[in-house]
Amino acid sequence: MKKICAANWKLNFSPEEARRYFAEWSALRPANLSCDVLFFTPAYDLTVAAEFAPAEGFHFGPQNIYFETSGAFTGEISARAVHSLGARWALIGHSERRTLFGETDDVIAKKVKTAISSDLAPMLCVGETLAEREAGQTKNIVARQVRAGLGRVVTETASHTLAIAYEPVWAIGTGRVATPQQAGDVHAEIRRILSDLLSPPRAHEIAILYGGSVKPDNAKDLASQPDIDGFLVGGASLKPKDFFAIADAL
Ligand code: PGA
Repeated sequence: MKKICAANWKLNFSPEEARRYFAEWSALRPANLSCDVLFFTPAYDLTVAAEFAPAEGFHFGPQNIYFETSGAFTGEISARAVHSLGARWALIGHSERRTLFGETDDVIAKKVKTAISSDLAPMLCVGETLAEREAGQTKNIVARQVRAGLGRVVTETASHTLAIAYEPVWAIGTGRVATPQQAGDVHAEIRRILSDLLSPPRAHEIAILYGGSVKPDNAKDLASQPDIDGFLVGGASLKPKDFFAIADAL
């Protein structure tokens, strides 16, 4: 399986800033990156990403989609429309969507289904809060989120690309990264859940990314864990040089 380095820009970069970013990325990017690179941009930057993606060899997608693809849903993002722009991935169920925007496992499961039926590869985000970790609930929470997110698309996932991003909520944007051991243990558990839910061979084809305060100086240690197949990077993806250094660690 090819490793994946994904940028989550969150609510940063206007189209003009996105254009400057990709120009800087093009100038930095050496020919020999061994991982796939993805950019999850704000919806209004997707057309800019589409201008650069073919020449630069990266993929891109939105940070959220709605589970309906058209109709009276003011302010939402259509999976079908972003696919027509060239997006091939969609980030789904990020912890900020879950906590700030009230997304439930049920809504997230519908979004995963819609991504797949719109030919977008879903990257399903899962992860426990600090209170859940301290209560010894990490594996139960992650198991619930993975099973809920993929449970309705077990047949479809046999032939569709998808990825899981494990992001402990306490590590997102806090500078407090999970240790390689902590992350590695949860990744191994996610692999077991995928084996059980889908099949062992399929579980080994699905990339499981770690996210939460990944930086150039901790990426190498995290990447040495056998079940860490990539990174989802927020803050450090905003500087092309740092994001490149993280991709280079994979
Ligand atoms: P961070 O964000 O790298 O800034 O911690 C990761 C994410 O939220 O995807």
